[in-house]
Amino acid sequence: MLDMSSMFKELCRVDIENQTVIIETMNQAVEPHSAAGVTTNASSPINVPINGRYRSPLRYPGGKQKAIEQIAQAMPKSAQEYRDPLVGGGSVYFYARTIAFARKYWINDKFKELISFWHSVQDPDTCERLQKELEELRSNFQSAEEVKEYFLRVREENPETEYREALLFFFFNRVTFSGTTRAGGFSSAASIHRFTASSIERLAPLPQALSGTQITNLGFREVIRRPGQDVFIFLDPPYYTATKLYGHGGSLHSFDHAGMARMLKNSPHRFLITYDDCAEIRALYDWANIKSWSLQYGMNNCNLQRESKIGAEVFITNY
Ligand SMILES: C[S@@+](CC[C@H](N)C(=O)[O-])C[C@H]1O[C@@H](n2cnc3c(N)ncnc32)[C@H](O)[C@@H]1O
Repeated sequence: MLDMSSMFKELCRVDIENQTVIIETMNQAVEPHSAAGVTTNASSPINVPINGRYRSPLRYPGGKQKAIEQIAQAMPKSAQEYRDPLVGGGSVYFYARTIAFARKYWINDKFKELISFWHSVQDPDTCERLQKELEELRSNFQSAEEVKEYFLRVREENPETEYREALLFFFFNRVTFSGTTRAGGFSSAASIHRFTASSIERLAPLPQALSGTQITNLGFREVIRRPGQDVFIFLDPPYYTATKLYGHGGSLHSFDHAGMARMLKNSPHRFLITYDDCAEIRALYDWANIKSWSLQYGMNNCNLQRESKIGAEVFITNY
């Protein structure tokens, strides 16, 4: 049986291979689609940063930070409740919080270590302690070799507390190839360029960005199924071609694409899904609205060749 890290690796494997650029650039600036400096929304009780925006502190396989503008255009203007059952690095969630899209927020993922991280940074005291201890850890390293030694040692550790799990998760996220955490290999380049003081400082706004948000470690079904008023669900599942390509159908770690489509067909909630454009997905959602769009990959940080690729994607909605 696979552990959660391996499962995560499997689920995102093709994303990891094909979307290196997105992962590597997810912490770079992306202009919000609405007017610059979104400030407040009279209908929202939640503070949002003045002249700024929340953004994910994580490098995330399959993360959609690069596509935020296009996703924003496809979203409704607002809802009472925002749900993100496959939240991953949370790029769309942070966008939604920045524009005060909803009054209530619910983020979820099956990846336990990731959820331990989001839980820990939600609490102001725990988040502060995390920043302090991560900075102590970082500033004590003298070389990439030392970071690697530490990485190899703690990779074997079974964290006993949620706090320790969160700390290690962030460390792994910063020092592995493409942020693949325990499932990925150590990257000297990442340990130098990604595990920096500023990467740790990016944790500071998270208690505010996550305040009041429900954070769960469930399968996506429970999040879709739950009744609610004026709910909008954003779904960014692992690519269909990824799971098929690697022959995961039917095994524990496969993603149930058809099951998700069946649930959504009967759901009273509005939803937006991003998927790779393929015949199977179009057939599963032939009852919904399907719109093609292109995901522009930027520069590939790995081989440093200025390549850009266009990925054929679809938005699927029921509104
Ligand atoms: C493509 S990633 C989401 C990336 C995210 N939108 C972002 O921008 O960072 C897909 C996520 O789905 C999660 N996942 C896979 N199967 C799941 C399931 N059955 N229930 C809940 N989450 C699942 C994975 O752990 C992963 O975090």
